[in-house]
Amino acid sequence: MERSAPVGVFDSGVGGLSVLAALRSRLPGERFIYYADTAHAPYGERGDAFVVDRTLQVAELLVREHGVKALVVACNTATAAAIHLLREAWPGMPIVGVEPALKPALALTRTGHVAVLATRGTLASRKFGVLVERLAGAAHTVRTVACDGLADAIEQADTESVRALCQRYIQEVGPLGDHVGQVDVVVLGCTHYPFAQVHLTAAAGGGVRFVETGEPVAKQTARLLAEAKLDQPEDTGGGLTLLSSGDGGNLHRAADRWLLIPQLVRQPHLQGAPMRHSGAA
Ligand code: DGL
Repeated sequence: MERSAPVGVFDSGVGGLSVLAALRSRLPGERFIYYADTAHAPYGERGDAFVVDRTLQVAELLVREHGVKALVVACNTATAAAIHLLREAWPGMPIVGVEPALKPALALTRTGHVAVLATRGTLASRKFGVLVERLAGAAHTVRTVACDGLADAIEQADTESVRALCQRYIQEVGPLGDHVGQVDVVVLGCTHYPFAQVHLTAAAGGGVRFVETGEPVAKQTARLLAEAKLDQPEDTGGGLTLLSSGDGGNLHRAADRWLLIPQLVRQPHLQGAPMRHSGAA
């Protein structure tokens, strides 16, 4: 494995760009190949067998055809369904996944009530069940909302649908705020959702904090690359190649919009304390 080889990052579509933004800012010397499986998005409502098959095919392509030295699965749904299979297939390779940032959410909450917004696939997964069981104590309530259609609406940049779905799903969370019995922290458990944060925040009103996963995934990737002596020095220049299995137009438009202004991904209209990040799997 060569230090100069690229790092492969993939998602069902544009969502993983929210992770890529953090990766690029932490690892400016690395070359990244981002693969959006646009032709098969969204993954979240498709069932495990489909997601496992797509994840293995995309990873295979990144490893065999593009010679990546590491893989970042920038998709909660694919991580939940298939990361163990990737680690079995490439045991020596640094492989990083994402999972809903429940740990920092539970550390942040003052009411003891947190919510996780994610795809149906992520919430139904064994991995997520184990995470909740491991982290949530008797004093905690974890509400989950499967946000059908939201990743797809973000993928299509369909602003009206994104706004309407954000309102609907925030309502489904139940009472929000910092009083007893109210949810005060909401986990964005899908990498697409940071791109809807402005609508989620508007729907939620004040007193609610959102957590997502870009930063800790970037940190974990940096750690694994350094441990494997595969990290590139910052002054090597880095680079980015965008690939898509479908019409690449959406991906390029989203990358233009989100990668040039990653600070908007991180802190749009936040109320209360600053957003915290976690969720490397
Ligand atoms: N962005 C992905 C995730 O984090 C998948 C969304 C989808 O394709 O449904 O779960």
